[in-house]
Amino acid sequence: MSRVRLDKLLADAGLGARSQVKLLIKKGLVTVNGQPAAGPEQKVDAEKDAVSCRGQLLSNASFYYYMLNKPPGYVSAVTDEKEPTVLSLLKGAPGRGLFPAGRLDKDTEGLLLITNDGELAHRLLSPRRHVDKTYLVLAAGHLTPEDLNLLETGVDIGEEKPTLPARARLLSHPEPDLSLAELTIHEGKFHQVKRMFAAVGKPVLKLTRTSMGGVALDPALPPGAYRPLTGEELLLLKNAAGL
Ligand code: URA
Repeated sequence: MSRVRLDKLLADAGLGARSQVKLLIKKGLVTVNGQPAAGPEQKVDAEKDAVSCRGQLLSNASFYYYMLNKPPGYVSAVTDEKEPTVLSLLKGAPGRGLFPAGRLDKDTEGLLLITNDGELAHRLLSPRRHVDKTYLVLAAGHLTPEDLNLLETGVDIGEEKPTLPARARLLSHPEPDLSLAELTIHEGKFHQVKRMFAAVGKPVLKLTRTSMGGVALDPALPPGAYRPLTGEELLLLKNAAGL
């Protein structure tokens, strides 16, 4: 059961900043189970209580969208018998049936979308849509211009076809035998980035997703923290998903 403050639930559902939703409550425009809301601090069960604003039902029927900065050590799943899951980091967040839209490896960090909007997730992950995903990659070895060229044009990762054209950029060599690079891919094969770098002989040491579908990881979010997507970010993702 997830009980949250009413003003947080309304703000997370995209009705405005906390100050704005407090005003809606004060004006009597918000009801909980048909009764005028008692105040912004009223605790509601996001899964069971029927919260309405101007007569429109929010909870139960609403979609929720969160940006999580996934820390290493968590699996991209709703439940798992052995490992901590990314969903355990969103305890108490409003929204029934939340799940990670896509998968980052247990040791991968960074941007993960958590939502209960199945259609958006399905479309974002569809191999046909080629939604951009950008990663910051720390790799062992000295990436050469030839390596970058190969990563960009397509490498053999043991699939039927080479990888699709990608964008690869060397950022620095933090040490002579280490390379920091940025890679943008338009597909999402299993362990794709690690397999691409392995194919050029530069194994990945650390992997962080920094953007997806035009939405960048919020630098203000520390690992393990999450926040609702802004309206603008949601629009970018819907665009990328062809919605
Ligand atoms: N590519 C990988 O190899 N791992 C991830 O987690 C994401 C992309």
